[in-house]
Amino acid sequence: MTGIRILSTGSQQARQVVTNDDMARVVETNDEWIRTRTGIRQRRFAGEEESTTTLAVGAAREAVRALEEGGRSRQEIGAVLVATFTPSDLVPNTACLVQEALGLPEKLLALDINAACSGFLAGLRLSQGLLEQQPEKLVLIVGAEVISRVTDFTDRGTCVLFGDAAGAAVVGADPSRPFWWSTGARGGGQALSCAGIPVGGGPVGKIAMNGKDVFRFAVEAIPAGIREVLAKSGAELSEMDWFICHQANARILSHAAKAMGIPLEKFYMNLDRYGNTSAASIPVALDEMNREGLLQEGMKLMLAGFGGGLTWGAAQIIW
Ligand code: COA
Repeated sequence: MTGIRILSTGSQQARQVVTNDDMARVVETNDEWIRTRTGIRQRRFAGEEESTTTLAVGAAREAVRALEEGGRSRQEIGAVLVATFTPSDLVPNTACLVQEALGLPEKLLALDINAACSGFLAGLRLSQGLLEQQPEKLVLIVGAEVISRVTDFTDRGTCVLFGDAAGAAVVGADPSRPFWWSTGARGGGQALSCAGIPVGGGPVGKIAMNGKDVFRFAVEAIPAGIREVLAKSGAELSEMDWFICHQANARILSHAAKAMGIPLEKFYMNLDRYGNTSAASIPVALDEMNREGLLQEGMKLMLAGFGGGLTWGAAQIIW
């Protein structure tokens, strides 16, 4: 099976910083409740001039710039996959808008994919298949969301959790970097939903969630996905240099770390600053870690995502 390598990363955060105190002016909540239950201190919301498309284009532009600084070319890109459940438009899809904005080759596959918060993992898995078809090409994967536009700001149990952002990565085939994955869906979707476009003029969909059900699912899905990946790769948990998981809630990550006996310091966390940015959270984390110099060549990384569907995904990659 084709191995893959992440060649470059990029990200873009939405403009407006919204603190927990700001949220306390919108719903009956407070900084202490949000911090202790979730670890979130602030999130960012898109301004009027921003959209999922502008954030996706911004993150993709950074990733492509970094790719070209490393001596490769955007002309090598053979597919754009944008993971999002909040596209600005259904048609044209976000991937086509990224292709156009970045002047990417016309001969490519431009697809939006929706696996909610597992979307980046879905994109990574798909990229491996695409690179098997065309090992000489590169795949641009973007996770982008403007969740604030589907947030119910009367529901304090959800509106404090989410934020808007985009992250991107360019991946290429690399036989020396085996790629192992696990993905799944298991029903129970009503625990975390966002109604689609109402046919016939009903209200625009808003996020609805049973927080406890999603919490229980997440603390089970992360270790299960990771164990399945390790069973395929034959690696030990202790060999992983970093666990880069979907940034939903610090308590979920510490439960998962404890369940697997992994020091929490190996779990990268930035959710205190951005909240849950769904499909964007893992590529944003990768980009931050990359820029901070936390990722050294040859490191073994375990990625894990979970969310609406209910879906999950995990993957072991070599940096
Ligand atoms: N501020 C203050 N109080 C709040 C609140 C808020 N923002 N949101 C809920 N509460 C209240 C509830 O109304 C409830 O009050 P009550 O006991 O008087 O009825 C109390 O806090 C406890 O609510 P509960 O829902 O039981 O809290 P919890 O401990 O389960 O924490 C979550 C709520 C949402 C933080 C937690 O369930 C969670 O993180 N779930 C996973 C969510 C997630 O990550 N989703 C995305 C996955 S991709």
